Amino acid sequence: MGGARPSNVHLDVAWTADQVDERAVAGSTAVAIDVLRATTTMAALFEAGVAAVWPATEIDEARALAERLGDQALLAGERGGVPPSGFDMGNSPLEIRPEKVRGRHVVLTTTNGTRAIHRAAGAERLATAAFVNAAAVVEWLHKHTRERLYIICAGTQGKFSMDDALCAGMIAARFVEEHSESERIELSDAAAAAIGLYERYAGEIGERVAACRHGRNLAALEMEKDVSYAVQIDRCGVVPVRSLEEHATIVRGERQG
Ligand code: MLT
Repeated sequence: MGGARPSNVHLDVAWTADQVDERAVAGSTAVAIDVLRATTTMAALFEAGVAAVWPATEIDEARALAERLGDQALLAGERGGVPPSGFDMGNSPLEIRPEKVRGRHVVLTTTNGTRAIHRAAGAERLATAAFVNAAAVVEWLHKHTRERLYIICAGTQGKFSMDDALCAGMIAARFVEEHSESERIELSDAAAAAIGLYERYAGEIGERVAACRHGRNLAALEMEKDVSYAVQIDRCGVVPVRSLEEHATIVRGERQG
């Protein structure tokens, strides 16, 4: 007599943080994506050795958290792409200096990315992903996904964003391709569309991300180098993973491989 057949894995994608279906996120393994730039920057922060990232949705909340954490805290983030007044850092992966951030607790507030993390609050497990750590995230997902995988794109100000959608498609495509029983994976229409979009543009990720609305906005702020950084596929092996501590949402880095 064989054991019980393992249940199928349902894979869904939300195109924006606002679109997150709370019933679908509850109990799932979820991944939040904000390629430009919050989740790219989070991967870079852990690569540089930060102890933890504390995502905050509002500027005042971020200031209060940083005050509570005291000297170990660094206040980072953006509104309109630039750091709010009094912040230690913006939201650029290129301004991260390992000697400045190593061992520190970074309180991060951004327009869309940190909101997406909070919208996924009901997930059983939550990681953040970007092109720079896509392979490590897929490896983590194979270890931690049970019956439902929910990939959440932050989007840009409530709208579909090509950078996040392409990254969602890459992660979904690799997850299916590398799954030992890929016939057990059921794709929602959005997941099938994300994979189709990624397959269409896989050879031109850099161009597509630079051409999208958020890529053009960053170029207008002379931050096009951040876009070039964000499209370096599989550059880091660290996965930022939510850990509920001290009644707060904290993200810690987990190295894969
Ligand atoms: C966001 O969360 O909206 C972004 O990370 C914005 C940015 O810094 O470009």
